[in-house]
Amino acid sequence: MEYLHYKNQSFEFLSPGNVLYGQKGIPNFPVKLAYELFNRALHYLDPKKNLSLYDPCCGGAYLLTTIALLQQGLLATMYASDINADVLSTAAKNLSLLTPQGLQKREREIQTLYQAYSKESHIKALSFFDQFYTLVDQNTETIQCDVFQQDILNPHNMQKAFKADLVITDVPYGNLVSWSGKNGIDVLLDNVSKQIHSNSVVCIVSDRHQKRTNQRYRRLEKFKVGKRIVELLRLT
Ligand SMILES: C[S@@+](CC[C@H](N)C(=O)[O-])C[C@H]1O[C@@H](n2cnc3c(N)ncnc32)[C@H](O)[C@@H]1O
Repeated sequence: MEYLHYKNQSFEFLSPGNVLYGQKGIPNFPVKLAYELFNRALHYLDPKKNLSLYDPCCGGAYLLTTIALLQQGLLATMYASDINADVLSTAAKNLSLLTPQGLQKREREIQTLYQAYSKESHIKALSFFDQFYTLVDQNTETIQCDVFQQDILNPHNMQKAFKADLVITDVPYGNLVSWSGKNGIDVLLDNVSKQIHSNSVVCIVSDRHQKRTNQRYRRLEKFKVGKRIVELLRLT
């Protein structure tokens, strides 16, 4: 796959465990790929502003937070859900970094850690804050974030009423995390169909062992990036 939107920008400041929170056992999505997927999906959306974005397998919301930081004022709302309640506090903490108040709190937290342990990694993390403040200040409106627990394979568990313009999700591959249920992608697509508009774009990232057979969606794009398979879809 040739990157159409990512042009060798340095995203080092977004690496997990510096300013952004990481959590043991939660895989983090490559930032340059997240940036590429958001911009490719954007191509199919009209209008391209006040957008709502949903990740139904959000983990620590690293994917959502990095997209939101790099998207330059196009997003208004984000929904983040996961079956695992243990990851949702990390998700909420990462999404809090989209506000100046959240960033100030995180900066104080790292300063306190530096005073206690004087680690090089703390100095490095503190040096990244200017880039975060610059990106957050570009958003005139705060992005509204809703974090909740939801099993995306269980249609009876879908209690939130919302419609997202865009879904981007990195489904479990069975390495660090696996599906809490059976045949994931097709069921996810059926259930997500209740939470999108007819012209929304759904971007599914999986490994090559998982095949989409769900025919309620038509393919806009499909490509391979390393071991990952990406499909951009729209309801038929
Ligand atoms: C590959 S990780 C996603 C990582 C995330 N993109 C990030 O950047 O932090 C997949 C996530 O799917 C979640 N998951 C597994 N089964 C699920 C289900 N049935 N419903 C919702 N989430 C599920 C796991 O708990 C895990 O957090």
